[in-house]
Amino acid sequence: MLEKIKYAVKEAGKLILSDDASEIYIKEGHANLVTQRDIAVQEYIINALSEILPGSHFFAEEKSDNELTDEYTWIIDPIDGTLNFIHDRRCSSISVALAKDKEVIIGVIYDPYKDELYYAEKGRGAWCNGKGIHVANTEYKYAVISFGTSPYRSDLTEKSMEIAKKFMLSCADIRRIGSAAIEFCDLASGRTDGFFELELSPWDYAAGFLIASEAGAIVSNPGCEKVSYDRPHCTVAAIPGCFEGVYNTVAEIYLK
Ligand code: IPD
Ligand code: CA
Ligand code: CA
Repeated sequence: MLEKIKYAVKEAGKLILSDDASEIYIKEGHANLVTQRDIAVQEYIINALSEILPGSHFFAEEKSDNELTDEYTWIIDPIDGTLNFIHDRRCSSISVALAKDKEVIIGVIYDPYKDELYYAEKGRGAWCNGKGIHVANTEYKYAVISFGTSPYRSDLTEKSMEIAKKFMLSCADIRRIGSAAIEFCDLASGRTDGFFELELSPWDYAAGFLIASEAGAIVSNPGCEKVSYDRPHCTVAAIPGCFEGVYNTVAEIYLK
């Protein structure tokens, strides 16, 4: 089944690369935009995955009436990094997770610009384009910490920036690239050492959490005992040697 999912996600990636103009719509607020392409990619993937697993359910960003069931449920972000897509920054991805009994068992993330296909099955490691991947082993003071700004939650902006400043002063540097799914893959493949975002939706982190943890990262949700893939969460992920420092820095400010 994983091979079929990988194929479907890569095929959908071709839609992101197409040169056709894509109309932009405003969802809510000034920062939340969606394009025709998000809708087209979602439609393509839902059709393809319905054939792979007939009767399965869908929990997808550009769809209403989402419900995370105990049966097979796909958690999908058709374009993670829509603002990057609109600005032609060539840094967006497709994120697909498969959950059963509300636990994610498969995660696939595709960056069509780099042609990098990341995937993981629970308990079976994480991979990119056929090669096993593993997190880095960096000392905290030399760590690169990436983060997201939770652009749809302006009430969290001050805290996000305060946390980012702390990392800026205690680690090597910070990064913000604009696709949470790619951030998890960067962490999983040793390109960064920690990541946080004070609010992410399930389609942003479901596949990324599995890929990062199968690659050796520790993932968690400050302020919440157990991750629940049907609602937004504060997310923290880091390599084991930096996890305590990253988690405490985020939790201390986020939970105050
Ligand atoms: C967004 C991206 C961004 C993150 C936002 C997400 P979207 O997803 O992952 O990096 O900071 O919180 O909502 O809206 O482009 O699918
Ligand atoms: Ca997203
Ligand atoms: Ca999206």
